[in-house]
Amino acid sequence: METFALTHYDEAADYIRRRTRQQPQIGLILGSGLSELAAQIEEADIIPYAEIPHFPVSTVAGHAGRLVIGRLEGCVVCAMQGRFHYYEGYSMQQVTLPVRVMKRLGVQTLILTNAAGGLNPRFRVGDIMVIEDHINLIGMAGVNPLRGPNLDDFGPRFPAANRIYTPRLRTLAHEVATELGVPVQRGVYLQLSGPNFESPAEVRMLQRLGADAVGMSTAAEAMVAHHAGMETLGLSTITNVAIGDLEATGQPSHEEVMEAGKVIVPRLKALLLGVLQRLAGEGSNRQAVAANQARPTEGG
Ligand code: HPA
Repeated sequence: METFALTHYDEAADYIRRRTRQQPQIGLILGSGLSELAAQIEEADIIPYAEIPHFPVSTVAGHAGRLVIGRLEGCVVCAMQGRFHYYEGYSMQQVTLPVRVMKRLGVQTLILTNAAGGLNPRFRVGDIMVIEDHINLIGMAGVNPLRGPNLDDFGPRFPAANRIYTPRLRTLAHEVATELGVPVQRGVYLQLSGPNFESPAEVRMLQRLGADAVGMSTAAEAMVAHHAGMETLGLSTITNVAIGDLEATGQPSHEEVMEAGKVIVPRLKALLLGVLQRLAGEGSNRQAVAANQARPTEGG
């Protein structure tokens, strides 16, 4: 099964509803090396992907492969501890399936995190970049999650692709970063298929295209979220500097990405918790938390 109908998304959402009494309002996708953030979630209901109808199973080291639903800074979040990648062999619709399932669960706001290579020469390992916009290079090349019959229940056949990364949430992230003294960059994220890192010529090409960071996820998920009318915040962690110098001897590696993740986690955690705190103060999420508290215990 490579493409999905509304019934498939609903079967997954219905299953998740049976496994938790909590009504998530905010989705959180935790990228490579960042999945330990889910340990902060309180009153967590944990559902392995393998148990959810139609969910693929994550195959990458460093990706735990489970959904964690619970409370974080006064918000009810649905966190993906590990995401799916195109390079694992899944279709783009499989990769982005959880986003639509979250939408059917009632999630309105999606926070996407990832590990990325820095293309902007001003970026350093350990930087956090608030994604302003993206270049979905793999999507432009035809590997687009919205290809195939359009599901009008989610959004239109020909969706706009400006304002994918919700301006209000970008501003909020920068405000929180300033308050906390967490330095952040801003820029354009570019998605490739992976799994290989980029050749020096490719790195120079991507820099000329106007990208600041490169990775193997996020743009497709953000586009599907935008198509479904969700608000989106994207945070890239710069885990390595992409190498555009032909004569350079260093090599990017998954180990380097995971190591840098460890360094970035405390900073990203602070920023994320700060953003969630601010979102918790907003009306719709306060209502969701109150509704959760008011719901009777159903057992299980
Ligand atoms: N390139 C592509 N994807 C990545 C990189 C990179 O340099 N670092 C982390 N994910």
